[in-house]
Amino acid sequence: MRRFLLVVHDARTSADFSLDDLAGGAGRMDLVARCAVASLLVSHGVRTDVEFLAVLLGPPRPPRLLRLMGAEIRGLNPDERSTGALLRKALAWEGLAESSVHPGVYASGRGLADVLAAIPPPIHVLEEHGADLRDAVLDRDVTFVLSDHRDFAPEEQALLATMTAARLSVGPRPLHADQVVTIVHNELDRRAPLTGSLRPCGG
Ligand SMILES: C[S@@+](CC[C@H](N)C(=O)[O-])C[C@H]1O[C@@H](n2cnc3c(N)ncnc32)[C@H](O)[C@@H]1O
Repeated sequence: MRRFLLVVHDARTSADFSLDDLAGGAGRMDLVARCAVASLLVSHGVRTDVEFLAVLLGPPRPPRLLRLMGAEIRGLNPDERSTGALLRKALAWEGLAESSVHPGVYASGRGLADVLAAIPPPIHVLEEHGADLRDAVLDRDVTFVLSDHRDFAPEEQALLATMTAARLSVGPRPLHADQVVTIVHNELDRRAPLTGSLRPCGG
């Protein structure tokens, strides 16, 4: 299983946002949508061996965890707007315990520390100044943690330092998180083609 965990500092933690304002009032929900798509979709297919998680930390009731499973997901399309609608549907669930809100989409009140503790190692942090991803020995079961448009907060840095294996870079340029996800997939796809781990879908 490949996992991508995105920490989204400003993302709204309720469903009261407009699909016309994903990048503004929704607190960069556009980025969450793009990362979900980059993590789970290929052209005309879904990566069934990938999980995408987003820890949302914006108002009004942080934290919220959204978890999207490639093996189960239905109705995920490449466009930001319909993915934003799926995320908004998930945020309508306000409980702390995890609930299945749509096929392959789960929502809960878990925060970063809880999420990291539940993920089997190795967990790697993706950052511009890390060691070169191309030189890293990577397992088939692996998790990558990314931040949004902001750097990790000091307390997040401290937590990640105790719970992660390596800090890895995909190259010298600071990229958008969804671009980094695509590059990581590409690197791993080249090492171990995903025969049998794609499900066809439209779009
Ligand atoms: C837009 S960047 C974060 C902001 C960035 N520090 C800046 O202000 O220039 C989003 C996230 O993508 C990941 N990232 C960006 N560039 C990267 C790179 N070259 N290698 C690995 N990860 C990268 C990191 O997790 C980063 O927190």
